[in-house]
Amino acid sequence: MSRTCTALLLFRALAASLGFNLDTERVTRFHVDSPGFGHSVVQYANSRVVVGAPKEIKAVNQMGGLYECHYHTGGCEPVSLTVPPEAVNMSLGLSLAAATNPSQLLACGPTVHQACRQNIYLMGLCFLLVSPAQGYKKLPDALQECPRQDQDIVFLIDGSGSISSSDFAKMITFVRSVMSQFPRPRTQFSLMQFSHQFRTHFTFKDFTSRSDPLRLLDSVRQLRGLTYTASAIREVITVHRPKWVPQGCHDLDCHY
Ligand SMILES: *[C@@H]1O[C@H](CO)[C@@H](O)[C@H](O)[C@H]1NC(C)=O
Repeated sequence: MSRTCTALLLFRALAASLGFNLDTERVTRFHVDSPGFGHSVVQYANSRVVVGAPKEIKAVNQMGGLYECHYHTGGCEPVSLTVPPEAVNMSLGLSLAAATNPSQLLACGPTVHQACRQNIYLMGLCFLLVSPAQGYKKLPDALQECPRQDQDIVFLIDGSGSISSSDFAKMITFVRSVMSQFPRPRTQFSLMQFSHQFRTHFTFKDFTSRSDPLRLLDSVRQLRGLTYTASAIREVITVHRPKWVPQGCHDLDCHY
């Protein structure tokens, strides 16, 4: 008798919890006619639903929007945030995350276009909303400045067996094309290849000492084998770094 009771109670508890978490009978639909609406969704502060529309064009060079949607009305309204003009086409709302205690919402756009001379850099910008009354905070506070000096470039290419020979050839063509677009001697190049092995094809020094540096690419052959990506990155940064970091370059002003 007491066994039957326990079983019944459990069943009721299960039914109650299912009913509470997921109501499949009365569905609320939120609809906003905006490109990318629904790409990201979070619920925060108990019942606030925030939806991202990262492809929405808000104004010239301003891409991405956030909406707050309400269960009781099924309606959504834009969340008003002042996106700084330098956050060009950031795709706000491409990623959203929420935390409880205290309730916080982090809304990010990872495609801030920053033009630094002939290059376009993609940066990220986030807004941290603590509560609607307390406003929001930008992260980071200000966008990174353009690098002041010319940069040296290290290529690390994957030559493992999972890369077909035609794709490997495309990588070399890409490296060749990038190398030929930067003036010497302001930019130096170095090339390394990995699979389960690691090979340095040429260092900055080799590059600088050649009158025809593009010829350095002629002898590059695909290694083949397994793909040890993390070890290769570590190798470039820790083991090989002293060889390619120019003298007098300290961590804070070196980009690699
Ligand atoms: C921003 O995006 C719009 C729409 O895609 C585009 O027309 C514009 O050129 C972009 N601006 C920049 C600086 O990339």
